[in-house]
Amino acid sequence: MNAKNVMFDGYAAQYDEWFMKNENLFASELKLFQKALGNIEGKRLLSVGCGSGLFESYIDRTNIDGIEPSEDMGKIAEKRGVRVISYSTIEDVDLPANAYDIIYFNGSSSYMEDLKLAYGKCKRALREGGKLILLDVPKESAFGFMYLLGKSLNTYDHEYLDGTMPELPYPLALAASGVWHTTEEKIDVLKELGFVNLSYYQTLIKNPLYTNEEPEEVVEGYKSGGYVAIVAKC
Ligand SMILES: C[S@@+](CC[C@H](N)C(=O)[O-])C[C@H]1O[C@@H](n2cnc3c(N)ncnc32)[C@H](O)[C@@H]1O
Repeated sequence: MNAKNVMFDGYAAQYDEWFMKNENLFASELKLFQKALGNIEGKRLLSVGCGSGLFESYIDRTNIDGIEPSEDMGKIAEKRGVRVISYSTIEDVDLPANAYDIIYFNGSSSYMEDLKLAYGKCKRALREGGKLILLDVPKESAFGFMYLLGKSLNTYDHEYLDGTMPELPYPLALAASGVWHTTEEKIDVLKELGFVNLSYYQTLIKNPLYTNEEPEEVVEGYKSGGYVAIVAKC
């Protein structure tokens, strides 16, 4: 496993703390996560890049498997009740065929180069009629621009950004190591792989400076949000 794949090692505490301090942003993302998952009762789920299991700690995790390359993150997820079946990347793991009703990537596609490889593996692991759910910061959103600008300037503390930044921006190292994808790029990959019935939900519609003022509602579509869910069927 290369250094890129364990990029979250050493950031587990900072990652969770960032969400806890940005509690309204977290509440908005959690609503989107729950809306996209829908009713999970009796279903078998796989969380790809489950991280510390922070979002899962707010839902029933009886039937949630996870894969996670960072041991720092995955160990916390295990304590929170996610069954981590592999400490590896989606690219390296062998998934059982026809095993899951729902496979989801909550923020993890943004650290993957080859989406076709990642989602293709999941298609084989999904049961007929199963769902693949992708939640991410779109590259084309205000958050995407902010992270790409931070990445290219190697700081958020720059005169170009004066007056624009939220009080506690996402850790620069994590923004800089992202492989930010547009929503349309992911839609194209899903269609190429034969996924159907795509639907879209979004939140964080306000500009990043104001996002943490209050929780936002989930709205349909993908063209305005700073956090977007795509739900696709097998
Ligand atoms: C932004 S965090 C999201 C964590 C968690 N899903 C959450 O919502 O809090 C991205 C996660 O994806 C993991 N990750 C990065 N590259 C990956 C890959 N190629 N395969 C699987 N997981 C990966 C990281 O280690 C990290 O835990």
